Amino acid sequence: MSQTLNVALGERSYPIHIGCGVLADAGLLTPHVGNKKAVVVTNTTVAPLYLETLRSTLEKGQISILPVILPDGEQYKTWETLNQIFDALLGAHCERNTTLIALGGGVIGDMGGFAAACYQRGMPFIQIPTTLLSQVDSSVGGKTAINHPLGKNMIGAFYQPQLVLADLSTLDTLPERELKAGLAEIIKYGLIRDMEFFVWLEANIEQLLALDKEALAYAVHRSCANKAEVVAADERESGERALLNLGHTFGHAIETGLGYGKWLHGEAVAAGTLIAAELSHRMGWLTADEVLRIEKLFVRAGLPVFGADLGVERYLELMRHDKKVKDGMLRLVLLKTIGQAVISDEADEVQISAAIKARCT
Ligand code: NAD
Ligand code: GLY
Repeated sequence: MSQTLNVALGERSYPIHIGCGVLADAGLLTPHVGNKKAVVVTNTTVAPLYLETLRSTLEKGQISILPVILPDGEQYKTWETLNQIFDALLGAHCERNTTLIALGGGVIGDMGGFAAACYQRGMPFIQIPTTLLSQVDSSVGGKTAINHPLGKNMIGAFYQPQLVLADLSTLDTLPERELKAGLAEIIKYGLIRDMEFFVWLEANIEQLLALDKEALAYAVHRSCANKAEVVAADERESGERALLNLGHTFGHAIETGLGYGKWLHGEAVAAGTLIAAELSHRMGWLTADEVLRIEKLFVRAGLPVFGADLGVERYLELMRHDKKVKDGMLRLVLLKTIGQAVISDEADEVQISAAIKARCT
């Protein structure tokens, strides 16, 4: 049983299929692979778990695969690893109509998508996300990138997939820490634009942690529906889409400042969201009770609610590389209330520093 959503982007529209076992459903996948050969970009952790299932699904449509198995980890989201994909594509004489399938979490999806955007100026691309975070966020919306030592996701492209296949059964093998990290991006949708969903999460967070499939299907579907709406309205982030970055300016500073891979992306986003909530309170927007309510949900999800102690100056230095900086001005996603985010340049450095100090151990 699966549910389907559509990301409405005119001729670049695509379906998201969500359900248990969709990875084995040839009817959902093979019609989107135009060539008899597909390149599957995955990593050393995911390949032993799911590559054979994907291979047999594709074989039902007489499609053979060329696997490209990359090292696992955020620290490998680099030019060097990206080049391994190009080496494999060129080595196998792949033509521009060959489909690239990313099988894995957000690191594989972001890197595979960027490779697909660049190879011969663009090849067909399919996302098969296998982490909670990638199923609710990174596989949808077409942001692809690699990291730079000076900043996270700094080199990349907007490049939409032709299909997203989110198999909830793959979450059964996900380490618990990774599952919790995915919850950070789910809570984000409630905070920025969906109060009703936030309330649902308050009632169901333990079911999600227990991998209850009905709860997961609801949360993944509702998250993707929120994301699809935002992306359809503002594909290239000239406005509303920036709200999806709640907590990310602070979170990216933590990830870059500590070295990629120390904190998981979702963990950094959780702590960053609490810094943003603290700042929103200091701006006179969120009440103290609301900040506490947000903190409680993140704590129940097993996520950090205090940032890493990089020192305020280091935070500010790293935050100046944020992609939302415009004419040298830092713009932050803040909360007016739970369920309503704004992008604002109203916070001055003194207020930002005070919020960081209050929320870092
Ligand atoms: P990840 O890709 O590193 O995956 C987490 C870990 O889980 C890895 O070790 C991976 O090999 C393993 N794994 C994946 N699926 C598994 C499974 N089913 N069973 C067991 N292990 C499995 O991390 P992530 O949290 O999926 O993604 C984080 C990345 O996504 C970051 O680089 C972040 O910048 C990016 N991101 C991108 C967007 C976007 O819009 N493009 C949005 C959010 C995050
Ligand atoms: N994860 C933020 C975005 O897709 O815009």
